Amino acid sequence: MHILQTVAELRAARHPGQKIALVPTMGNLHAGHLSLVRMAREHGDLVVTSIFVNRLQFAPHEDFAQYPRTFERDCELLAGCGCDIVFAPSDAEVYPEPQGYTVHAPSELAGILEGAVRPAFFTGVCTVVVKLFNMVQPAAAVFGKKDYQQLLVIRSMVRQLALPIELVSAETVRNSDGLALSSRNGYLSGSQCTQAAQLHAALSTLATAVNSGRTDWQTLEQEALEFLSAAGWQPDYVAIRRRIDLGAPAAGTPSGSEPLVVLAAARLGSTRLIDNLEI
Ligand code: PAF
Repeated sequence: MHILQTVAELRAARHPGQKIALVPTMGNLHAGHLSLVRMAREHGDLVVTSIFVNRLQFAPHEDFAQYPRTFERDCELLAGCGCDIVFAPSDAEVYPEPQGYTVHAPSELAGILEGAVRPAFFTGVCTVVVKLFNMVQPAAAVFGKKDYQQLLVIRSMVRQLALPIELVSAETVRNSDGLALSSRNGYLSGSQCTQAAQLHAALSTLATAVNSGRTDWQTLEQEALEFLSAAGWQPDYVAIRRRIDLGAPAAGTPSGSEPLVVLAAARLGSTRLIDNLEI
C-alpha cells in the first residue's frame, strides 16, 4: 500500500487505463469505513482511500481542532483490508489559496435536517468532494448510508453536475447493541457509550410503529423526541422522510406506498450523534 500526499504523486502512481474506486474519509477509521473500502474493491482496479479532515465543513464552534487524527493506525487498518493507496493531502494541497469558489447544494435538500442545524456543512462537504473527485479522478466513489443526507446531496450533485462517477452506497455498520459506528463515538464516556444505543432504539421503535400501519408522522416524531429527552439526550430532530428526496410524506400516506427513512440527530453531553433507518 502506498501513502501519497500530493496529486502529482497520485497521477504518477496510476497506470493508464486503471479504474480508481475512491473512499473519501476524514480518518479515525472504524469497521464502517473498512466495509466501504472492501466494497470499493468491487468497483475499481485501484482502491484509493482519502484521509483529509476538511475544515470547510466545520463551523467555527464545531470540533475541527479536536477531531481525532489517528493516521498511523488508519494506515495499518487500510493495509489490512485491501486498500492500494492512501491519499492524505495537506491542507495546502487541497486549499492552496482561499476557496472562493464553492458548491452550494439546493436548500430543499441541503437546508433541512443537518443543513438546518449546520448551515455551512453541505457547502463544505460538496466543495471538498468535488475537489477530491478532480484530484483523484475516480470511476467510482463509495459513501456510507450512516450519513444519509450527505449521500443524497452528493448523489444529486453528481447527477446535476454530470460528474462521470458511479456513486456506490454502503449499509451502516453497527455495534451489537445497535449503535452506528462513527468516529465521534470516541468522544463518549463508558456510560455514554451504553446510553448511545438509545438513539438506534428510538429509531427502531419508530420504524416498527410505521411498519405496523401508523401514519401519524408528527405524533410519532414527537414521541421519539420525548423518549430521547426523557433519557437525557438533547435532540436536534427526529424526522420521518421520503427516501428519494427527504421530503415529508403526506399526512396519512399509507406506509409501504413510498419508501421512507427515519433520521435523527441528538446530543449526548457534548457529543452530537446522527443515525437513520430505512423503513
Ligand atoms: O463523511 C465524511 O467523512 C466527510 O463528510 C467526507 C465525505 C469525507 C468529506 O469531507
